[in-house]
Amino acid sequence: MSTDAEMAAYGKAAIYLRKPERERMEAQAKPFDAKSACYVVDPKELYLKGTIKSKEGGKVTVVLLDTKEERVAKEEDVYPMNPPKYDKIEDMAMMTHLNEASVLYNLKERYAAWMIYTYSGLFCATVNPYKWLPVYDAEVVSAYRGKKRMEAPPHIFSVSDNAYQFMQCDRENQSVLITGESGAGKTVNTKRVIQYFATVAVSGVKKEASKIKGSLEDQIIAANPLLESYGNAKTVRNDNSSRFGKFIRIHFGATGKLASADIETYLLEKSRVSFQLPDERGYHIFFQMMTNHKPEIVEMSLITTNPYDFPMCSQGQITVASIDDKAELDATDEAIDILGFSSDEKVSIYKFTGAVLHHGNMKFKQKQREEQAEPDGTDEADKIAYLLGLNSADMLKGLCYPRVKVGNEYVTKGQTVPQVYNSVSALAKSIYERMFLWMVIRINQMLDTKQQRNFYIGVLDIAGFEIFDYNSMEQLCINFTNEKLQQFFNHTMFVLEQEEYKKEGIVWEFIDFGMDLASCIELIEKPMGIFSILEEECMFPKASDTSFKNKLYDQHLGKNKAFEKPKPAKGKAEAHFSLVHYAGTVDYNITGWLDKNKDPLNDSVLQLYQKSSVKLLATLYPPVVEDNTKKGGKKKGGSMQTVSSQFRENLGKLMTNLRATHPHFVRCLIPNESKTPGLMENFLVIHQLRCNGVLEGIRICTKGFPSRIQYGDFKQRYKVLNAGVIPDGQFMDNKKASEKLLGSIDINHDDYRFGHTKVFFKAGLLGVLEEMRDEKLAALVTMTQALCRGFLMRREYVKMMERRESIYTIQYNIRSFMNVKHWPWMKVYYKIKPLLQSAETEKELANMKEDYAKCKEALVKAETKKKELEEKMVALLQEKNDLQLQVASDSENLSDAEERCEGLIKSKIQLEAKLKETTERLEDEEEINAELTAKKRKLEDECSELKKDIDDLELTLAKVEKEKHATENKVRD
Ligand SMILES: Nc1ncnc2c1ncn2[C@@H]1O[C@H](COP(=O)(O)OP(=O)(O)O)[C@@H](O)[C@H]1O
Ligand SMILES: [Mg+2]
Repeated sequence: MSTDAEMAAYGKAAIYLRKPERERMEAQAKPFDAKSACYVVDPKELYLKGTIKSKEGGKVTVVLLDTKEERVAKEEDVYPMNPPKYDKIEDMAMMTHLNEASVLYNLKERYAAWMIYTYSGLFCATVNPYKWLPVYDAEVVSAYRGKKRMEAPPHIFSVSDNAYQFMQCDRENQSVLITGESGAGKTVNTKRVIQYFATVAVSGVKKEASKIKGSLEDQIIAANPLLESYGNAKTVRNDNSSRFGKFIRIHFGATGKLASADIETYLLEKSRVSFQLPDERGYHIFFQMMTNHKPEIVEMSLITTNPYDFPMCSQGQITVASIDDKAELDATDEAIDILGFSSDEKVSIYKFTGAVLHHGNMKFKQKQREEQAEPDGTDEADKIAYLLGLNSADMLKGLCYPRVKVGNEYVTKGQTVPQVYNSVSALAKSIYERMFLWMVIRINQMLDTKQQRNFYIGVLDIAGFEIFDYNSMEQLCINFTNEKLQQFFNHTMFVLEQEEYKKEGIVWEFIDFGMDLASCIELIEKPMGIFSILEEECMFPKASDTSFKNKLYDQHLGKNKAFEKPKPAKGKAEAHFSLVHYAGTVDYNITGWLDKNKDPLNDSVLQLYQKSSVKLLATLYPPVVEDNTKKGGKKKGGSMQTVSSQFRENLGKLMTNLRATHPHFVRCLIPNESKTPGLMENFLVIHQLRCNGVLEGIRICTKGFPSRIQYGDFKQRYKVLNAGVIPDGQFMDNKKASEKLLGSIDINHDDYRFGHTKVFFKAGLLGVLEEMRDEKLAALVTMTQALCRGFLMRREYVKMMERRESIYTIQYNIRSFMNVKHWPWMKVYYKIKPLLQSAETEKELANMKEDYAKCKEALVKAETKKKELEEKMVALLQEKNDLQLQVASDSENLSDAEERCEGLIKSKIQLEAKLKETTERLEDEEEINAELTAKKRKLEDECSELKKDIDDLELTLAKVEKEKHATENKVRD
């Protein structure tokens, strides 16, 4: 077992996986009496803990542990309890007392401590905690990576990792088979397995750009929301119950990286499309679409936002408290994109889903005075026809007057109103189912990366064996699948055991436990078995439920021990035959099996589908190919293949696949029906343990030699039983020693075998040996204790003796003193004794005086020195103060100077700025100046020109004047 330090790797999850060391030690140290501790059968609690008080004549008196009540029970109703060493044991196959009660209580105690995973041999059992424990974090994933099963606490991650390791070491395909009742946690655990591989084996390779919307890991994970919204619904027991089985194969490349994945689905419960119980709900997708969270979807599918407008999906609940339909719609819509559906396909998906809903609203009425049905309004038909790309009138005609083939000719057949309603609902369901299957095919195409695949790990999430009050054909299919899976398990276990025994050279009569189930399996699947009779009946037009039942009785009653007539009882639903399954006898009711199996569809309408203008509908309904090679003209891919033959084909494929893998078994248990965390109902759990094969596994286990120990370990642990046979200091081979040891003690010598490397025990013997060892150890410990106590006592004794001696000495002295106490000389002695002492004191005094003088002298010296120093100090202080003053003034000066300097710098900057300004102005002025000068010069030029002109004019004037004078003169003359 691990230490607390080792468990630290699991972080927060550690306490939910394994208890801390201290708690484990405490649990193992609890007082326990192997002979009297027991479980006793109780009508209310199934088993109660108690202690045996007395036994006689097959009757046992037991005192109950809780109430202290006394109970008398039959001997076979009392089961031994395992010693505390096995408290909360992680692998129940190791328990020495392998009985139902011990298994139940071990699971119960672990569950109470929130340890939900427990091994039982090859099985990993898990109990639904109904609350999220932090055991799935990334930290936990890495803590489990690469650990062997025995090295780590039980967990689904350990199962996954082991599968991964086996795949890489043995180069073999693996499968993880997860089964359990509805609501037990299969789907949650399946998702965990996938999460694990998507984390530890990331491919790192991007998908080719054309297809890519998300990485392969994302796509594998995204496939889930889409399949869940179309394939999951609320049931009484589970708000998110998968109504189909699935086998997801994850393929890995040569280096162990994710390469691709594919999904196979089984048996979608299509009846839920058109029918729901009051406490249940239809498939999530309808309600997601009607949230109006994406109004475009409501618009394109012509639906409303009120589920009650669609009676087909609203016979039960319309909301689920734990589910947020809006968020889920986002997830679905995103998943469709991540998975790479084209936008056309996406629109068709939503439109078809709407169309399915509208089918429930179609109305028909009876024609007057005729049995014939006719449409009562065509609104709904028009909507459906629009959504599916059909002609509304043709569709209605096909529904009311289908054409059927009689011999080689087609004739038109009339239909009554109920017949039409039937075929409408069958068509709606068929569209829904085929669309679901098509989505799976498309998802597979998208998950297929064309990368090299070497090995795969498959995860099977499929409904477990269940017994209801009313069991119909679907239940038979599920129970039969589980019967086959159980046979597969038994066979695996048998093969493994056989290998182990052979390897160890043990002679043992082998029993193939797989054969236990053979008679029931043959009864169901062999020629002339239940399925083949059913299929045969489906081909007779005149066959009825009664004729089917009669055939079954003729063929099997009294001939096959697995076939029985049901025992009628009050309040029990009607049943027609019983099958003895490995997990219990189930009564089946065959009403309507023939119809269910034929699953007839209206051929005339199907032909319209094939010609639909919407591509997807035509894809969903490919033309029927007549396959004449098969007898009876069975049609392939068409409407004639019966449900049961399809189921058998699928199951056959699954089993072939599984047989080619190394299986790992996970069993999910539902602890109570009220979804209460932490509460375990005994009857419910034990019933499941019986059904899911865990107890069967234990039964097989007890037939062989389930406990095995290596010789070395055995010798070391059990040598104390008879140490005498193994001589000390002399070499003896472990096997020889073990043989000698076992031979020498008083046990049933048929209950063990010697292999080559291990010794094998029947269930229970190891407990006996353990008990003997405890007794022996107890004796040895007592002996050691006795020796120690003796040794301590002897030491104490020596001390006591010494004390006694001393007492004598003391007494002798006191007595002597008493004798001499009154003797005169003694008195004298007493008087003198103090004087002697004072003489002593005087001497001491003188010494002290001398010391004093010396001290005084030293003191004086010290004082003078002190004074001197003090003076010096004063001087120094003065000096220091002076210096400080100086420093202060200096620094003042300095700061003054700095201030001034700063001032100067500031003014310098200012001045510089002014200077710059001035220079600029100067430049400007100069420029103006130059301009002015130029202008001046120009003006001067002009001026001189003008002057010249003036001169000229003056000259002219003068001339003219002269002339004038001359003229005047002339005139005067
Ligand atoms: N390991 C778990 N941890 C927390 N809750 C769980 C666990 N297993 C199951 N549950 C709860 O139980 C419900 C039903 O589980 P589910 O896996 O859908 O059951 P099944 O597939 O077996 O019908 C889940 O929705 C979840 O609430
Ligand atoms: Mg499920």
